[in-house]
Amino acid sequence: MDSKFNLLYKNSNNIPKFQIKRKPSPVVFNNGGPTARKKIALNLNVQTNNFKNKNKVSIQEQRRKLPIFEKRNKLLELIRRHNTLIILGETGSGKTTQIPQYINSARLQNNGKIGITQPRRVAAISVAMRVAQEVGDAVGVGETVGYTVRFEDVTSPRTKIKYLTDGMLLREAMVDNLLMEYTFIILDEAHERTIHTDVLFGIVKQAQKAREEKKLRPLKILIMSATMDVDHFSDYFNNCRAVYLEGRTYPVNVYYTLTTHEDYQTACVATFFKIHQQAPWDHDVLIFLTGQEEIEAVAQQIRILSRDPDVAGPSVKVCPLYASQPTTQQITVFQPAPENTRKVIIATNVAETSITISGIRYVIDSGMVKARTYHPATGLDMLKVQRISQEQSWQRTGRAGREAEGYCYRIYTRSQYEHMQKSTIPEIQRANLSIVVIQLLALGIHAASFDFMDKPPKDSILAAFEQLKLLGAVETVDSRTLTTLGKKMVQFPLDPRFSKILLSAQEYGCLEEILTIVSLLSGESIFLNPSSKREQAMTSRQKFLSPYGDHITLLNAFRVYNNLGSNSQRSWCHEHYLNMRNMSYAAQVRTQLLEVCQRLKLPIVSCGNDTEPVRKCLLAGLFMNVAELHKEKQYITLDKRQVVNIHPSSVIHGQQPQFVLFTEVVQTSKCYLRGLTTIESQWLYDIVPDYARSHIRFNKDI
Ligand code: CDP
Ligand code: MG
Repeated sequence: MDSKFNLLYKNSNNIPKFQIKRKPSPVVFNNGGPTARKKIALNLNVQTNNFKNKNKVSIQEQRRKLPIFEKRNKLLELIRRHNTLIILGETGSGKTTQIPQYINSARLQNNGKIGITQPRRVAAISVAMRVAQEVGDAVGVGETVGYTVRFEDVTSPRTKIKYLTDGMLLREAMVDNLLMEYTFIILDEAHERTIHTDVLFGIVKQAQKAREEKKLRPLKILIMSATMDVDHFSDYFNNCRAVYLEGRTYPVNVYYTLTTHEDYQTACVATFFKIHQQAPWDHDVLIFLTGQEEIEAVAQQIRILSRDPDVAGPSVKVCPLYASQPTTQQITVFQPAPENTRKVIIATNVAETSITISGIRYVIDSGMVKARTYHPATGLDMLKVQRISQEQSWQRTGRAGREAEGYCYRIYTRSQYEHMQKSTIPEIQRANLSIVVIQLLALGIHAASFDFMDKPPKDSILAAFEQLKLLGAVETVDSRTLTTLGKKMVQFPLDPRFSKILLSAQEYGCLEEILTIVSLLSGESIFLNPSSKREQAMTSRQKFLSPYGDHITLLNAFRVYNNLGSNSQRSWCHEHYLNMRNMSYAAQVRTQLLEVCQRLKLPIVSCGNDTEPVRKCLLAGLFMNVAELHKEKQYITLDKRQVVNIHPSSVIHGQQPQFVLFTEVVQTSKCYLRGLTTIESQWLYDIVPDYARSHIRFNKDI
C-alpha cells in the first residue's frame, strides 16, 4: 500500500515545477532607495549572528553582533538632534529591540516612557519578552520593559520601555491626547500602514506640536520600517530627516512555478518535502500562509508526513506562527532546533518584517495573505484571502538571505507575480472607518478634517458616519461630538457595533450571555474542523448545537467549558474538537470586558436558557448585517442587496431560515456568510423601525 507521503506525490498536480533562474541575483528592496532625500547612509557591514550557535553565545554578545550596534553613538546623536526622525533598516538589523534600549541607557527619555508601537499583538509580546531578557531584569517582562495589547496589560509604574499595539496607543491617546506619559513615541513597522498607525501619525504629530506650543516637555517621534517611501513620510512629518541603516543581505535564488497552483497549501507541503530531502538539516524553512486554520492544517500535515517511513531526511520541528497564538507557543519559534532536526516555521505575514527568526535559508511563499477589506458599495466588510503585493513578495523573499545565500520558492508563476499590485494599499483606504471616526470624535475631531497622511475616500467616511448615526453614537453626519451613548461605546476596545450590543444587553436582560458571545467573537474560532474528521467533529458537538445558529452554539459550548474544572477542560475540548487556547483566550477577554461593564455600572444579569433576548440584542448592533432568503439557499443582504450564501461551516447550513444576521463575510469562489443567528423580521421593525421600513422589501421586490 502506498504511504501517505507517496500519495502526496502520486498526483502530479500537487508538485510544483519551478522555473529555475540561473544566476542568483541579490534581492533589491525598496527601502527608500538611493534617491531618498536627506538620507544619511550608515554602512552596517557587520556579520550577523549564526543562530545555530546561539545557545553558546551570551545574550549581550548577540546584541553586540547586531548590525546596528556599531552605529549606536551616531544614531543617538541624530536622535538627540532631531525631534522627528525616520529610521530605515533591514529586517533583523536590531531596530525594534535595540533602539529603545539605546535611548534608555543614554537616559534620553528623562523621566518619561518610551512607547514603541507594533501592528500586531504577537510582535509586541514577543519583542517585549526578548528585550526584558536583554535588559536583564530578574522578574522579566512587566518591569523595566513591558507590553500592552488589547485585553492584556503587562506593565508597572517602573516600566520605561513599553511595547504596545498601535490600537492600544490610540486608546491611550483618547484619554490623554498629548500623550504626556511618553517622551518618545516610536511608530514601528510604519510601512504596514494599518488603520491605527495611520491615525496615530496624525495624533502624535499634533501632540508634538501642541506640547511645543504649550511649553510642555517635548515629544520625540521616531518612525521605523524595513521598507517605505521615505519621501512621502518625510513630507508628511515636516520634512524630517531619514537615516538609512545599510544592512547586509545575501543573494536569494528566486524560483517561480511553471504553472499556477490553486491548491497552494498542498503545493507548499510538496515543495517543503522536496527541499527537506535535499537540504542540510540546519537550513531552516519558512512557509508563508494566510491564517491560523490553514497554518494548523499544514503544520499537522507536515508533522504526519515527516514521520512517514518513505521520507528521507532529518527529523522535523514544526513551529506555527500567527497573531492569536499563546505566548508560550510563540517562544518556541525562536528556539533553535536540536541537532539533526530541521525547523519549519509556518507563518502569516507577521514574519514578513515584524518578527525576525534566525536560521532561515529557504522561504516558500504561497503568495497569499488574508486581509479585511470594506466595500462601501456593497456595505460588506470582507475577510478575504488575496494575492500579496510585489513589495510583500520581496520582503518574504528577503527572509531567506539574512545570514547566507538563500532560496525562495514562489508558489506562483512569473506572470502572476507581474500582475500583483506594486505595493499594498493602506488599510485606511480600504477599511470600514466607523472605528476611526468614533475614536477621532472622542478626541473632538471630525474625520473629514483630520490630517491624514493619505486621506481615506469621502464615501467611506460618510458611510461610517451613517453607521454611527444608526447606532446612536452621533446625532448627524456632521457631528463633532458623540452622544451619551457614543461616549459609552468608545469605552470598549471593540468595533462600535459590538459595543452597542454590550450596551443594549441591559434592555434585554442578557449581559452575561452577550459578554460571552462578544468575547468569543473577539478571538479566533474555537471550533476545529479537520477536513478528515468533519463528521466526527459535528457529531461530538451535537449536544450544544443550536437551531438558532452559530452564536448561540458558541454560547452553549462556552457554558459547558466554563462549568468544568480546569483539569477536565483540556480533555473535554479535545473530545469535542474545540480549540482550548482560543477558548481560554475568550475567557480572558470576557473578564476584561466585564470590568468595563462594571465601570459603566451595567447590571450583570442573565436571561437563562431563553435565546430570544440574546438574538434581539445581537440585532441591536448588527442590524446592518442581515440577510434574507432569496431563493433556494441563496440570500440577499438587506443593507446593499448583495447576493450571499451560508458558509458550509455554519450550524444552520442546510436549513433555510427567512432572516439571518451574520458576523463575518468571506469570499472564496462565492460570497459566504459565517457566524449566523436566525432572527425575525418583526424584531427589525421594533429595534430600528426606520431602517426596517426602508430596507425590508421582501423577495418580490428584488
Ligand atoms: O526590528 P528589526 O527587524 O530591525 O530587528 P529586531 O526585531 O530588533 O531583531 C534583532 C535581532 O534580535 C534579530 O536578529 C532576532 O534574531 C533577535 N530576536 C530574538 O532572538 N528573539 C526575539 N524575540 C526578537 C528578536
Ligand atoms: Mg522590527
